[in-house]
Amino acid sequence: MSDAHAFAALRALADGRFHSGEDIARALGCSRTLVWQAIRDAEADFGLTVFKVRGQGYKLPELIEWLDVAAVREHLAGPAAETFTLALAERIDSTNTQLMRRSDSAPHGLILAAEWQDAGRGRLGRSWRMRLGGALAFSLLWRFDKGLAELSGLSLAVGVALARVLERLGAPVALKWPNDVLLSGKKLSGVLIELSGEVQGPAAVVIGVGINLAAPGDVGQPVAGLAEAGVKIGRNALLAELLNELALVLTDFSEHGFAAFRDEWQRYAAYLGQAVRLSPAQGEPVEGLFAGVDERGALLIDTDAGARALFAGELSLRPVS
Ligand code: BTN
Repeated sequence: MSDAHAFAALRALADGRFHSGEDIARALGCSRTLVWQAIRDAEADFGLTVFKVRGQGYKLPELIEWLDVAAVREHLAGPAAETFTLALAERIDSTNTQLMRRSDSAPHGLILAAEWQDAGRGRLGRSWRMRLGGALAFSLLWRFDKGLAELSGLSLAVGVALARVLERLGAPVALKWPNDVLLSGKKLSGVLIELSGEVQGPAAVVIGVGINLAAPGDVGQPVAGLAEAGVKIGRNALLAELLNELALVLTDFSEHGFAAFRDEWQRYAAYLGQAVRLSPAQGEPVEGLFAGVDERGALLIDTDAGARALFAGELSLRPVS
């Protein structure tokens, strides 16, 4: 069964109403058996349940607003409309993986968004999983004149762009160093930044953003969807709002670096002034009071042995014993 059939069958059901197997088969130009198989495969691959009622046909549990380039462009403001070129994929391994593969030749401002990622990636080798039709997964390629050495605060600046948009939409979000967006203490969105280039410059950066409109099922950690904050926005409009803000933030970051965003980042910061633990990929965890970030985006932590600035690791609240 091809993915094209699975998506075509789901698209035929996107309005959330019942459609008979016969009608779908006619629209797709295939047999009813193929429709049945396509729906069965889509259920297995995407973790969906499609209602099947004898005499009525198939129905999705909820409406899906598919991504659509024209619908995104409709909401883009001037700078973003001039800067970004949009490409959509139905099913892909990972938008970051694909853009990184093309980072030598792809144009500045190329956006790749996917309906589904089979191997969505997060920081520290983790995976990123989403609900079909219930999340945004996209990556953008941005070229900087400056070198990799000057981009250390970029993921925090991207967090500020996301937080601005989500707050405007009515979601009281917080930023968890270095690049998670939290809603009620649960993960709503994550950013994965991958770099290629020289230490002194120029650099090509792939910025991957995953954001839940509806929380996916069990993904091994507490996760939230925007719907929990009562935010109702379509995926195309949300993508455009995020791109509008990212165009402004990335332009500012190119000119002024993270220093221009530091105070704002700290206003959104989760755990500020609280007892935290930073667990590096290797070595002992560092514990202390979270004292914010410096102008490079490094995490500042006051430990018993003095203040430290740290660039990498996993931040968690330190349990109070
Ligand atoms: C994290 O939580 O550690 C970062 C998650 C980033 C997920 C996004 S989804 C779009 C892009 N493609 C990927 O494979 N990952 C990022």
